[in-house]
Amino acid sequence: MINYFDPGSDLDLGTPQRLSDVQVSLVIDGRSISVPAGTSVMRAAAMLGTSIPKLCATDSLEAFGSCRMCMVEIDGMRGYPASCTTPVGEGMVVRTQTPRLADLRRNVMELYISDHPLDCLTCSANGNCELQTVAGQVGLREVRYGYDGANHLDDHKDVSNPYFDYEPSKCIVCSRCVRACEDIQGTFALTITGRGFDSRVAAAGGDDFLSSECVSCGACVQACPTATLSEKSLIQLGQPERAVITTCAYCGVGCSFRAEMKGDQLVRMVPDKHGGANHGHACVKGRFAWGYATHPDRITKPMIRKRLEDPWQEVSWDEAVTYAASELRRIQLKYGRDSIGGITSSRCTNEEAYLVQKLVRTAFGNNNVDTCARVCHSPTGYGLKQTLGESAGTQSFDSVMLADVVLVIGANPTDAHPVFGSQLKRRLRQGARLIVIDPRRIDLVDSPHARAELHLQLRPGTNVAMLNALAHVIVSEGLLDQRFIDARCETEDFARWRDFVAQPDNAPEVLGPVCGVPAEQIRAAARLYATGGNAAIYYGLGVTEHSQGSTAVMGIANLAMATGNIGREGVGVNPLRGQNNVQGSCDMGSFPHELPGYRHISNESVRAEFEQAWGVTLQPDPGLRIPNMFEAALDGSFKALYCQGEDIAQSDPNTQHVTAALLAMECVVVQDIFLNETAKFAHVFLPGSSFLEKDGTFTNAERRISRVRKVMEPLAGKADWEATLALADALGYHMDYQHPSQIMDEIARLTPTFRRVSYAELDRHGSLQWPCNDAAPDGTPTMHIDQFVRGKGRFMLTGYVPTDEKVNSRYPLLLTTGRILSQYNVGAQTRRTGNVAWHDEDRLEIHPSDAESRGIADGDWVGVGSRAGQSVLRARVSSRVAPGVVYTTFHFPESGANVITTDNSDWATNCPEYKVTAVEVLKVFQPSEWQKRYQSFSDEQRRLLKERRQAEKVEVRR
Ligand code: SF4
Ligand code: SF4
Ligand code: SF4
Ligand code: FES
Repeated sequence: MINYFDPGSDLDLGTPQRLSDVQVSLVIDGRSISVPAGTSVMRAAAMLGTSIPKLCATDSLEAFGSCRMCMVEIDGMRGYPASCTTPVGEGMVVRTQTPRLADLRRNVMELYISDHPLDCLTCSANGNCELQTVAGQVGLREVRYGYDGANHLDDHKDVSNPYFDYEPSKCIVCSRCVRACEDIQGTFALTITGRGFDSRVAAAGGDDFLSSECVSCGACVQACPTATLSEKSLIQLGQPERAVITTCAYCGVGCSFRAEMKGDQLVRMVPDKHGGANHGHACVKGRFAWGYATHPDRITKPMIRKRLEDPWQEVSWDEAVTYAASELRRIQLKYGRDSIGGITSSRCTNEEAYLVQKLVRTAFGNNNVDTCARVCHSPTGYGLKQTLGESAGTQSFDSVMLADVVLVIGANPTDAHPVFGSQLKRRLRQGARLIVIDPRRIDLVDSPHARAELHLQLRPGTNVAMLNALAHVIVSEGLLDQRFIDARCETEDFARWRDFVAQPDNAPEVLGPVCGVPAEQIRAAARLYATGGNAAIYYGLGVTEHSQGSTAVMGIANLAMATGNIGREGVGVNPLRGQNNVQGSCDMGSFPHELPGYRHISNESVRAEFEQAWGVTLQPDPGLRIPNMFEAALDGSFKALYCQGEDIAQSDPNTQHVTAALLAMECVVVQDIFLNETAKFAHVFLPGSSFLEKDGTFTNAERRISRVRKVMEPLAGKADWEATLALADALGYHMDYQHPSQIMDEIARLTPTFRRVSYAELDRHGSLQWPCNDAAPDGTPTMHIDQFVRGKGRFMLTGYVPTDEKVNSRYPLLLTTGRILSQYNVGAQTRRTGNVAWHDEDRLEIHPSDAESRGIADGDWVGVGSRAGQSVLRARVSSRVAPGVVYTTFHFPESGANVITTDNSDWATNCPEYKVTAVEVLKVFQPSEWQKRYQSFSDEQRRLLKERRQAEKVEVRR
């Protein structure tokens, strides 16, 4: 295995990098160096290879100057300035090592050590402790003060956090943790209490870390130079031996990590400071919640059964894929070629998604392939393609650091995209202004040192009305960027759009009451967005998962074009993609109408290219989307499904409809790491591999392709891509790849936007943002710079059509759904980690006035009923939601959030309308009928799994 651990590249240069056109020359210990103005003396010395002792400084944080360990002598300066807080000056002459400095540093170190437990040999940080290193560096040989004076050795240890311990007896009060929490994470959970000798680190808002405001991002743990804040896994397993750079498998931020290993055991995940998306930061999921990868619930043997009532039988890989293939062929023979299909996974790699769609189009011989983006960001693909010409976000995350105004609509970055959320908060603390458009008071509306100037708390389902009202103000108040429009956009489409939004019907005074937002607030938001400087829009599933999701995406693109806020840094249209590789799975041709690179299947020349490469004839018509597959299954024309890494039985709307469709199929093949909800309806189970067990790539929300690198062997013996190859082989279509890099080479050959992508180039660059081709060999951080991908930008008409899902006297409240920081999607991974300490059930948020009128108190069990179904959850009475609106997460299958959601969907893409369901909420005392049925079916399926046995002979039906 290649070891990507290059300690040299992770050298801590002491203070952050400074960028400047002005170079400053100085001499340090007789050697000359030129560095950008503003660089610290400490960093300049480190760049020369001179390591000045330091304790409170680190290059991820601004210098603080508290430990006095880094003193130097500078000609012409009095005393011994701290090199971390002293900027370089032209002609400066610095000495870092003199007898006097050595004495002073030893004295300081002596004081630290006199109040430190001398348990280095048994300390978890032994061998990787900065205090230990600096003690050695300064040549400390004795402690003249002894160890009997006042000390902190008996301070109480806090082990409440599931992932890290706080051992205050080892604290040197350098405040790196406090600054990391403030500057990097932006939570401000830590503080130094007391003064002088009594100074101690404390987590605010609770008695211990777990009950405090801490969100367990781990930035403080990473910043701590001692073992005071230490990962539990490190304490348990000891120091790692090697590290491999890989990519987080949770959300669409795509953080880069050093997976630090000891043998084949993962010791800890440390965010990679060179990571293009995260720059050394992470959240509780990526950094800590990886225990699911080796959880005892993992199924590592292929299994088959004829009927759902039968116990599972463990079989060899060969037997499993042969059985699956024979069933798929039998069904095609009986019901026709189009009676089967496949679903690619946005949790798997690009290479794996590519293979599944290739398998469907070649071995299955149809286009019945879809992906979970259907239920999240398919409207983004459609809406941005129509207006801008490319189905992807326009910027890098870093671009936000140049935004003056940020408009967040239908997204909750601090929970769902936490590392971007921290970056956004940093920009807000620097002075950028924020508009939040959301039915719920998300954390960003009012977080420490960052608050929204405007929170437009609209009624769920009225995004398009809101966007039209904003556009109306921009047009009618003359806030258009006419120069940009004339130069960059289709004239006639613009004129049509301008006349449409200018209509009095679209005025805030008319649409404001529809949205439930005062007209003046809408006018203020439009003015701020159009005139506040660089304005960037960030949006999420609160925009797309509506009956008019695609219309809203086009409305957002219209706003950006109308104000010239696109085509440079600091602006743009930025969909915050949900899953780690949802961008990639779409790029890879997972939709039934598109081949890789978003090229329509009906395009003859594109088809010809793939036909030649794959040696088959492709069907020219789009295949079935996921909801069409369900309909067809219930009609009796769709009989078998190969579902890789997606839990449709939990994640798709109207659960009872989905499970009825699954029950109607004759063969369901599920490939996953756990017996998820869909697998309970499966006939063949192919054990999946976690991101730690395979090579490949993920593509994040900024189109950044990053390497996923294998750090341990697949527990089931095959990585997911190998399982798909085996299934293809069993179906008689041989795919010849020895390594995922060869799959990427084929993708690059066949996909113009990926032409220059290869594993070698990814290793060289770290990551690449597509388009990456001859025109842009180093990738494309910002899109549409000189012209739109489609040539001229196209304004689209966005008439507001209210959803059919309306409140009435029977269903008077609107339910909307979302995510929470500690859990991830269907929860299959995070529910099997320590993250349940923060969120162990889905709750229903209800406004105090709605709760009171129904006699509901916080913690009560409440029945939530919609036109689709009923479930029971516990209530959380909260004014985060407006009166008339209730909200829940959907991370636990037994809460049945999707039993309640309907199968209404986006007019263009069928993306479900998760965000608007009319419901009634009543106090109840027992589970819903669905929950009772679910519980008994689930218990039975778990029993059948538990009693699984080795198959003696596999009967293949022909
Ligand atoms: S884990 Fe993160 S949020 Fe918690 S105290 Fe540390 S830096 Fe702050
Ligand atoms: S906990 Fe660690 S980082 Fe924080 S003040 Fe103590 S030694 Fe420094
Ligand atoms: S922000 Fe997203 S990608 Fe980054 S560590 Fe958290 S879950 Fe992983
Ligand atoms: S490292 Fe400079 S004062 Fe602490």
